[in-house]
Amino acid sequence: MSTLKTAAQFFALRTLVRGYALMGDPYAGVMASPAHRDPYAMYEKVRAKGDMVRSRMGAYVTPSREICDSVLRDNRFVTATFDEASMVPITLVKDGEKIVNPVQDSFLMKNPPDHTRLRKLVQPFFTPRALKDRTASIQKIVTDHLDRLGDRFDVVSEFASQVPIQVIADLLGVPDENKDLFARWGSSLAETLDGVWSHQQLKDLHATIIEYNDFIDVLIDERRRNPQDDIVSHLVQEHHDLSREDLVATTGLLLFAGFETTVNLISNGVLKAFENPHTIAPLSQSPEYAEGFVEEVLRLDPPVQYTIRWPKERLELAGVSLPKGMPVMLMLAAANRDPRVFDNPLVFDPTRSNAREHLAFSAGIHYCIGAGLSRIEGTLALHELFKRFPNLAADGPVTRRKSKLIRGALRLPVRAGETERSLAVN
Ligand code: HEM
Repeated sequence: MSTLKTAAQFFALRTLVRGYALMGDPYAGVMASPAHRDPYAMYEKVRAKGDMVRSRMGAYVTPSREICDSVLRDNRFVTATFDEASMVPITLVKDGEKIVNPVQDSFLMKNPPDHTRLRKLVQPFFTPRALKDRTASIQKIVTDHLDRLGDRFDVVSEFASQVPIQVIADLLGVPDENKDLFARWGSSLAETLDGVWSHQQLKDLHATIIEYNDFIDVLIDERRRNPQDDIVSHLVQEHHDLSREDLVATTGLLLFAGFETTVNLISNGVLKAFENPHTIAPLSQSPEYAEGFVEEVLRLDPPVQYTIRWPKERLELAGVSLPKGMPVMLMLAAANRDPRVFDNPLVFDPTRSNAREHLAFSAGIHYCIGAGLSRIEGTLALHELFKRFPNLAADGPVTRRKSKLIRGALRLPVRAGETERSLAVN
């Protein structure tokens, strides 16, 4: 496709979605409004319109926890790749061969039976037993990174992103010297989860995917020759029949799904602590309180704000007749504030007894495989950070990510010694 044609398509798509967003359309509002600083007010406007709100863009939007949960568990609904779902195709072909896209070719975007087959291959690395064995090494990663921090630092780049990338690199078997490269690809891929909105973004995505494909090919060869105790070695040694496409996509999925999400859990947690200073002492003193704290961050300010499902046949949902293929946007972040499930849903309460009913990790067959791992990472990171720096305070404005799907901070400058906490978000 010519550059001019794709650029024109992107321009048309952006203009259309922004136009609808300005008219108050809920689907366009979530995808494109500048409300990323605080999308929650907009979600409440959607809630006020009902449980199934029709978008003029040919979709439904639901903020209801019950409906989100039932759609996620209903096998009449499926996921779709960007190419199937978006108006601009983003598949990359090089020298006549398809280049594997770790987002859209992965099992996150597949349906049974392929989804079941591929998920099962990596499941053993995420069992409670496997996570228990990994906890001491995560604790060490957290402590080592805390040791490197000075009196003033950026929480996101110097701590929140360092811990998950080290954890995921160890899990996959990526050598330490490639960690930064890996982190850059993870961020770049995660940005495209929102959809691709410009020709430049498409070009950057393609460059990332090609680099990632080249890198992982080398790692796969190396682990074939010299297996270690990691996921890539396990896949190449135990599953000889696995295609290269499935191998590259599965490892890439773990990288991008496990990285940016957990970074944002940690930075959203720091922000919640600053906004609720009474939580800092118990957070730093009690690991049990820290677990509840993380659960409540996941509920009130989740790193993944929504997901989408498509009915594979005509069906009835909450009194609405949905034609085959009509997208339903499941507003996970709004569902987590559903007043029919959570008392005083806007209050941040780390001791809330049913916080775990949130949908931050989705539900059904695509329920986050890394939920347990990120709970451990988030709990240790936040507990140890405030234990080490009990007077941690904001040190300048917070910059938010532009993404609507992934919510978190891009920069969160802090100083270790201050006692007065003030917060400005731009
Ligand atoms: C706070 C951190 C995290 C959050 C909020 C999160 C959220 C999610 C959500 C919402 C989904 C499902 C999307 C959907 O239903 O369409 C998902 C799926 C997934 N997540 Fe996570 N995730 C986190 C951490 C991790 C980690 C640490 C890993 C792995 C190391 C991981 C790996 C995956 C994988 C492989 C899937 C696909 C599951 C499937 O399709 O069967 N995630 N995650």
